[in-house]
Amino acid sequence: MTRVYNFSAGPSQLPLEVLQKVQKELLEYGTSGQSVMEMSHRSQDFTDIIEACEQQLRMLMGIPDNYKVLFLQGGASLQFTMIPMNLLTKYKKAAVIHTGQWTKKAIKELKKIGGCEIIASSEDATFSYIPEVTSLPQDVDYVYICENNTIYGTKYKEVISTRDVPLVSDMSSCILSEPVDVEKYGLIFAGAQKNMGIAGLTVVIIREDLIQENDALPSMLSYHVAAGNDSMFNTPPTFAIYMLKQVLQWIADTYGSLEEMKKENEKKAALLYDFLDHSAMFKGTVRAQDRSLMNVPFVTSSAETDKKFIAEAKAHGFINLKGHRSVGGMRASMYNAMPLEGVEKLVAFMREFEKENL
Ligand SMILES: Cc1ncc(COP(=O)(O)O)c(C=O)c1O
Repeated sequence: MTRVYNFSAGPSQLPLEVLQKVQKELLEYGTSGQSVMEMSHRSQDFTDIIEACEQQLRMLMGIPDNYKVLFLQGGASLQFTMIPMNLLTKYKKAAVIHTGQWTKKAIKELKKIGGCEIIASSEDATFSYIPEVTSLPQDVDYVYICENNTIYGTKYKEVISTRDVPLVSDMSSCILSEPVDVEKYGLIFAGAQKNMGIAGLTVVIIREDLIQENDALPSMLSYHVAAGNDSMFNTPPTFAIYMLKQVLQWIADTYGSLEEMKKENEKKAALLYDFLDHSAMFKGTVRAQDRSLMNVPFVTSSAETDKKFIAEAKAHGFINLKGHRSVGGMRASMYNAMPLEGVEKLVAFMREFEKENL
């Protein structure tokens, strides 16, 4: 078996130890006589899995008791709809900081449901930085941000203060990569297929007072219904929840805490950014203080060299380095499961490529 180094933005590389454990348990989970994929979601075995998964997540992220954890479906994208449907209760308007494709999509869905005030944007410089907010309206139901911009490679380094207005954050591409002060947020959500496991599961962490009953909402789009049924209003994505549990256990066993996880991610990112900062051929595209630890976009001076680099990298076992179709160039996504060795080898390969092609 030859495993590649997968720099995909998601779905992405999983820890080998997790895959091996899952393989071992695939035909029979514990002594249940069946695979997790075959289990009733109401069985005791699965109840134990989902409860342990939530507890592990609460422990690692330090989620306070007054927050509910919801295991939903529909991808992170369905949250672009569910959030306004559930949270636009008083002012029927939200404020958004516009930082790229993922806020653009969230804005589009928000506008179908209520008002949208864009309070800052980095569109003027191809979303290469996190814009400063100069004034925060208080007559909105929430402030919406995308914490880590997967496509453009920018990341908030501090939690913005929204005073009494709930802060809603799309953490799809940075959740579990570093500690989060959950209490500063009203709602956090993430698609699982990057740092949490596999596609099919979306995790929502929501402060209880933001969960309001509204009979006019379709049941499947209501946080109140999901929370009231412990994420079991319908059949949840059982295998994806089991995978999240395995990934959380791997973080706990390997790193012990998100503080330590962050240190490892900083080591990996520093290797690549240092190389980019000193290279005569490659350069990063993001303002230094806003650089993401997870997604690193970079370019050479020509589209032709970019193409050659991507092809040769692939032949050497470094796959999915092509930048998002909307921006071009390259992008290395280095989620938790990317080992340090993978980044060391990528940088060594880039150094060689530069020598041969400059
Ligand atoms: C930051 C961010 N938000 C939302 C999404 C959309 O996620 P999904 O495909 O699960 O709907 C992505 C996907 O890559 C993302 O990176």
